Amino acid sequence: MAYGVGMREVPLRPIVHVLVCTNARESGAALGPGCGESGENVYDAFKREVDRRAAHRTIWIARARCLGVCPKHGATVVVHPGAKVLADVEPANAVEVLLAAVGRTTREP
Ligand code: FES
Repeated sequence: MAYGVGMREVPLRPIVHVLVCTNARESGAALGPGCGESGENVYDAFKREVDRRAAHRTIWIARARCLGVCPKHGATVVVHPGAKVLADVEPANAVEVLLAAVGRTTREP
């Protein structure tokens, strides 16, 4: 597929792509405080696991703004492939989430 002027496709393709909500809202916001600091802690836990596996080229972890769930505890995470939406994710869940995601792929991380 050809793209417009100024845009190009890059030949990189993660086997697992994790989006972690780190959205923080102001105190008293109607939708709650957001994943905020919990999301940052979850993001850091995923990054540590990717570092430990030296899997930076195949497992991508990215911060995201609100992913639409806004849990009271932990953070919302979306895991590709499969677009699995997980709520209430805590840092201690990072390893099992990655193992499950890698297990759903047909490629090695
Ligand atoms: S603020 Fe994290 S999912 Fe909405």
